[in-house]
Amino acid sequence: MRHLLEIDDLSSAEVNQILDLATSTDAPQALAGKGMALIFEKPSARTRNSMEMAVVQLGGHPVYIQGQEVGFDTRETVEDVTRTMACFHSLVGARVFAHPVVERMAALDLVPVVNMLSDAAHPLQALADLLTMRRAFGELQGRSVAYVGDANNVARSLALAAGRTGMSFRISSPSGYGFGEVDADRIANAGVAIDIHNRPEDAVAGADAVYVDTWTSMGQEAEAEQRRRDFEGFQVDERLMALAAPDAIFLHCLPAHRNEEVTDAVLDGDRSRIWVQAANRMHAARGALAWLAHENR
Ligand code: CP
Ligand code: NVA
Repeated sequence: MRHLLEIDDLSSAEVNQILDLATSTDAPQALAGKGMALIFEKPSARTRNSMEMAVVQLGGHPVYIQGQEVGFDTRETVEDVTRTMACFHSLVGARVFAHPVVERMAALDLVPVVNMLSDAAHPLQALADLLTMRRAFGELQGRSVAYVGDANNVARSLALAAGRTGMSFRISSPSGYGFGEVDADRIANAGVAIDIHNRPEDAVAGADAVYVDTWTSMGQEAEAEQRRRDFEGFQVDERLMALAAPDAIFLHCLPAHRNEEVTDAVLDGDRSRIWVQAANRMHAARGALAWLAHENR
């Protein structure tokens, strides 16, 4: 059984298949008469809505479930929640705090599991990011994306996605907020050409895309004050964007904390593709779900 927990679950060819399905004007009715459970332990605007609409576009029926309703390992075990969902649904998506929860769900091989964001990975976001860059640049091979900020779930999936499409990945994070050894090894094993820079200016210089995420991810709220201090100098503003390639685009997975990790002028400026990127969440999700349904038919 195939699952989608992180981008390196997919080969390069499979990533391209998903992107092609995402851009196809003719959505296959791959989920006709089928259900998908969407379990959220954390809030969501884009992921919930894009996934619900993608399931509908494929002819299926999405069921939104708040984490506390099923209570992973409190009301019943993660495995028993998954077994229950498999009684009713052909696919299960989960947004969780701890990545091992989605691994435990997938390990049962009862129903395909989609990671809708964990502390470690956000593969659906990375697929939408690739789609956005493909639409902006055409061929991705040889292009570069510069990520400025916390080496978090979004950064890890983006790095792996860049590797799968022949892009180079640059990153600049404050000291102590770079990739840990396990993630760095995983990215290296995926064959990603990664450039690590101390100064955001050096990461961004000549890059085709500049990418930003929040400094404080969901679940880290208690560290927000400390992080604001630690990330000083890592805000993306027009001065930094001017160092990128002349036709460079700006990306942010959103939600944005305006004038914290990025200025209004960049978010709302000519180079920004953030709303195309948000809309692409639905197209990328539709491609990923159509691909998963086909693989697991
Ligand atoms: N980018 C993203 O996953 O947004 P939400 O948290 O609103 O789903
Ligand atoms: N890194 C952020 C992404 C939100 C879509 C978080 O995990 O909260």
